[in-house]
Amino acid sequence: MAENGLMEKLVSLAKRRGFVFQSSEIYGGLGSVWDYGPLGVELKRNIRDLWWQDMVRSRPDIEGLDAGILMHPSVWEASGHVEEFTDPLVECRNCHRRFRADEVTNQCPVCGTKDQFTPPRMFNLMFRTFMGAVEDEAAQVYIRPETAQGIYVNFLNVLNSSRQRVPFGIAQIGKAFRNEITPGNFIFRTREFEQMEMQFFVKPGTEGEWFEYWKNARFEWVVSLGIREKKLRLHQHTPDELAHYAVEAHDIEYEFPFGWHEFEGIHNRTDFDLTQHQERSGKKLEYVDAAANERYIPYVIETSGGVDRLLLVVLADAYREEEVGGEKRVVLGLKPELAPIKAAVFPLVKKDGMPEVARKIAADLRREFPIFYDETGSIGRRYRRQDEAGTPFAITIDGQTLEDQTVTVRDRDTLEQERVAADALAPYLRKAIG
Ligand code: GAP
Repeated sequence: MAENGLMEKLVSLAKRRGFVFQSSEIYGGLGSVWDYGPLGVELKRNIRDLWWQDMVRSRPDIEGLDAGILMHPSVWEASGHVEEFTDPLVECRNCHRRFRADEVTNQCPVCGTKDQFTPPRMFNLMFRTFMGAVEDEAAQVYIRPETAQGIYVNFLNVLNSSRQRVPFGIAQIGKAFRNEITPGNFIFRTREFEQMEMQFFVKPGTEGEWFEYWKNARFEWVVSLGIREKKLRLHQHTPDELAHYAVEAHDIEYEFPFGWHEFEGIHNRTDFDLTQHQERSGKKLEYVDAAANERYIPYVIETSGGVDRLLLVVLADAYREEEVGGEKRVVLGLKPELAPIKAAVFPLVKKDGMPEVARKIAADLRREFPIFYDETGSIGRRYRRQDEAGTPFAITIDGQTLEDQTVTVRDRDTLEQERVAADALAPYLRKAIG
């Protein structure tokens, strides 16, 4: 499908079907903050759950963590974020709009005035607030711009309580906040977002092989979600693209309707963060390998992805428009594991006892799967709504059901209908969803 207008179509579908709403919409919206509706919250949860299963539960060498969003202010001084987590900001002297200096030419994109930008000044992206009742500098705290620091400051706690040995990792999913100068492109760049991050602690000297391992593993995981490989690529950071903590980085990029952009990064952060925290806190953050009679500060390979950005990848990749029987249909071809609703249940007509049978089937299946029940409108319209929601299966109760207790199961993608015994639906869905 031509990508023209795809973003507008996605924003519109996301609102129409309850995936994503603008924050505080009734007040005119809050810049670059978005709310997830009934379907969006399920899709987001499925993304997180698949990541957690792959990165934590299925692996003996990675532990989970859920650290606070607010942390001691020294964390951000030690990590370099107070000093370095900045973007160059310029202001148009005519309309007073502000931009990232590296994203504009000499002409203001809003009012068109030329050569009227102020000299760039470095703008720190961290949000600040006050802790406690007194709003002075001593009470100032930062709202985390990455979840990674919560992992570093808990390195020893997790090591000592879990009995892990290097190499091992700590993973976390949580909100992060950045006062972006130019947010935009729907949920792509926002000021409040969620990260899925994992820090893998390795023996110095082995970071090269672990970097390769994680780069490939993360790419393969994204492919396992059903994202088209031709829309994915790895991009190696040039020295001037590297964050202050990294010596090597690869982005996993997707070809969005607005171009190729990163949605996950794999970073070699060396022993930078642990060393900084050891120096600042005065607490030893070494790993002691008693068997080898060695002690060292581990190196870290980080995998850092955005939940919201991956959700945008998933939506953009799944969206398609088709002609069926002379009619246009919009389909979200989500992989069944990701789909917010796994099956819809419809009585063919709202009479002859069909709704009663259908409601009972829906209630039975709901114990195991997210199910949508609908008995109003034409069956064609009900199918179309579920195609747009990405529901992979539609179960219809018809006249034959009342005779032989079989139902039809319509496949969203092939449109084929299969007759299945009503009491075999749960194993059928279990197998199809994987
Ligand atoms: N701990 C390393 C780190 O935070 P990053 O490249 O700045 O690295 C990692 O961010 C991921 O977080 C990005 O690939 C993106 O998916 C997500 N992310 C970062 N800033 C974002 C924003 N303003 N809006 C939405 N997602 C964002």
